[in-house]
Amino acid sequence: MLQEKDNKIYSQLPLIYGYIMRKIDYRIWAEYIYSIVADDLSKNPKILELAAGNCNLAKHLLEFYPKIIVSDISVNMLKSGLNIPVSKVCCDMMYLPFKRKFDLIFCAFDSINYLTSRKKIIDMFREVYYLLNENGIFTFDVSLEKNSLIHTKQPERSGKYKGIHFKQISEYDKLKRIHKNIFKLKMANGEIYTEIHKQKIYPFETYFELLELAGLYAVECFDAFTYDEGNQNCERIQFIVRKKNGNVVF
Ligand SMILES: C[S@@+](CC[C@H](N)C(=O)[O-])C[C@H]1O[C@@H](n2cnc3c(N)ncnc32)[C@H](O)[C@@H]1O
Repeated sequence: MLQEKDNKIYSQLPLIYGYIMRKIDYRIWAEYIYSIVADDLSKNPKILELAAGNCNLAKHLLEFYPKIIVSDISVNMLKSGLNIPVSKVCCDMMYLPFKRKFDLIFCAFDSINYLTSRKKIIDMFREVYYLLNENGIFTFDVSLEKNSLIHTKQPERSGKYKGIHFKQISEYDKLKRIHKNIFKLKMANGEIYTEIHKQKIYPFETYFELLELAGLYAVECFDAFTYDEGNQNCERIQFIVRKKNGNVVF
């Protein structure tokens, strides 16, 4: 009998990621990011994306900016964006291996929620601080509790793509503020893989506090995909962040 395997997150999921995200309009997402940063950037900004996944967002942002470096911890996610003409670096966003600085650093689609402790978030914010030019912009979105509560109303979905049967179960632990997505993939050869994705759903205020500790501050915080002010009742919020003036010693 074939054994069920517990797998590292985003090791097998990239096989179906594009399919399960097929309803996400990355072009509109890229246009939104462009709209919130364009006024503050030069014509040829140096751009870095964190947790870029299969590079779908960068693909559309290339229409505005021809040179983008993308990074992600999962080599399989990056490989699934193989034909997208961006430079790809496989690395952890908490330990960024770059020597040059950037005018824009961005991170999309709840990826920061994968950092499940305050320390991890601060480590990542500090890396961003070091890599951002003095007038650079850092923008990211995060998922808030309302989003988790909505998703757990219909906690299961399943389907089949390219011979792979998959099931996704969504759970939210309100006490620990942990949102789990459990993915089970049954391959055409019968092998079964399970990936348990844990995301921390921090309170709204936490981000402001942690940005401050890393020498950064929020210029704006929008209800995502709008230009309205974000608050704790939003599903997703979009931060636009800059470095505080003066050198910060950690
Ligand atoms: C929900 S996906 C989003 C991918 C992409 N940004 C998008 O919009 O489709 C989350 C991504 O975060 C990446 N990720 C999770 N933890 C990470 C870390 N510590 N460093 C870098 N990437 C990470 C995963 O590999 C995955 O590609």
